[in-house]
Amino acid sequence: MIPRVSIVGLGKLGASMVAAIASRGGEVIGVDVNAASVEAVAAGRAPVQETDLDATLAANRARIRATLDVGEAVRDSAITFVIVPTPSDARGAFAFDAAARAFEAIGTALRKKETYHVVVLTSTVLPGTTRTALLPILERTSGKRVGPDIGLCYSPEFIALGSVIRDFLNPDFTLIGEVDARAGETLEAYYAQVMANHAPSRRMSLENAELAKISVNSYVTMKITFANMLAALCEAIPGADVDVVTHALGSDKRIGAKYLTGGLGYGGPCFPRDNVALAFLARSLGAPSLGPEATDAVNDSIPARVVARIAPLVPAGGTVGVLGLAYKPASHVIEEAQGTALVDACLAQGLRVVAFDPLVSALPNRGAGLSMAQAPADVVQAADVVVVATPDAAFAALDWPALLAAKPGLHVVDAWRLLRDRIPASAAARYHVLGRGPVPGSDPRAEARLAELWTAPGH
Ligand SMILES: NC(=O)c1ccc[n+]([C@@H]2O[C@H](COP(=O)([O-])OP(=O)(O)OC[C@H]3O[C@@H](n4cnc5c(N)ncnc54)[C@H](O)[C@@H]3O)[C@@H](O)[C@H]2O)c1
Repeated sequence: MIPRVSIVGLGKLGASMVAAIASRGGEVIGVDVNAASVEAVAAGRAPVQETDLDATLAANRARIRATLDVGEAVRDSAITFVIVPTPSDARGAFAFDAAARAFEAIGTALRKKETYHVVVLTSTVLPGTTRTALLPILERTSGKRVGPDIGLCYSPEFIALGSVIRDFLNPDFTLIGEVDARAGETLEAYYAQVMANHAPSRRMSLENAELAKISVNSYVTMKITFANMLAALCEAIPGADVDVVTHALGSDKRIGAKYLTGGLGYGGPCFPRDNVALAFLARSLGAPSLGPEATDAVNDSIPARVVARIAPLVPAGGTVGVLGLAYKPASHVIEEAQGTALVDACLAQGLRVVAFDPLVSALPNRGAGLSMAQAPADVVQAADVVVVATPDAAFAALDWPALLAAKPGLHVVDAWRLLRDRIPASAAARYHVLGRGPVPGSDPRAEARLAELWTAPGH
């Protein structure tokens, strides 16, 4: 029998966890301070946009309850997960006010509960937060001791927006930070019943788990940035091709091929802020912070580098077209998105921009320099230089030979080598690929610059 759990916070992650757990046969009580979210989940509807969320909630409605009342949820469950926002504060750390309020309400409810209950923080926080900031709230409001009376864990999920339900149920491993073995064992046993893939558990102290969570994202972004650094370097070496280099690099088992594609940088709600937070933590504690700072600085510099590359191609008074504004294909999220940053970098240079994204209909407050197109072909029609900013298959599927034939002055800048098989030889000179050097023999200056390193007198 899977124990009934409660989930406080019915957002992108929390509501998806409710649906995922119920789909595995577990009973779940969802809680939120937002009545509309509670109403939606109680009615088997998605409170937020996420792949399969609506259908999974509807199909498993019999095992799902939702309430505004934390007391009821805690009373009727054995484990409570807290998945509320922890937005970045002015220092770059994660603010935990919402988590503190949730812990107060849970602690107050636990005052009246006789049986052992485990509270699990799932929201992203920095090391020390769970033990030094949230544990005392739980003890004060419940009048009980964390350890003998109440279990406490920090256990984040490793999910990507757009595949939250699938990722939650099929993790590479479950990460469990625990105050003691009893709490950790309870959560590990619960995950073993609910997860679909028998993933191994990594159990450790609260602080180690808090650090491990943020390290995963920081490491992945470092890898992305390394590939992007190689892409920029390849552009200066005749005949170089970042895909050839990263393919070889990724074949090394110590490295692996995932997240090793040179292109535009990372973005979205998690990756950028986790690096900033890790750098803040390291600086504050007197440890080296250069790693995450450098990753971040390189990432932030990419839109300006791309603008420098395309500006010479834009005729006076001309227009740049941007295809892809969200931080990845099939997303509507523009937070820290490179396509959107590219639009802003172009506008800051005084360039006019026409943009399209299948799921982003507007970029507010950009002024008259930006116009939004209704279809990708309209961008091509209106622009002198088109940048493919996200690797969206819909952009590859356009009839590029016809579009290029109809506009003899059009240049295409492809950040992801998405169109490499779609451009006719007759238009090759107007096709610019990020991450590739000039064709050997086509750029004497680039060849001379490289040769000079090894042939100039004195070497
Ligand atoms: N979305 C992701 O991809 C992702 C990935 C990993 C980690 N996280 C972390 O998970 C946490 C939640 O992220 P999200 O994207 O689901 O947030 P979200 O903003 O989509 O949802 C948060 C929900 O919590 C509710 N809430 C706020 N305060 C509350 C309280 N005191 N009691 C009850 N409900 C409350 C809000 O009304 C909202 O419905 C954050 O710490 C985030 O960093 C998110």
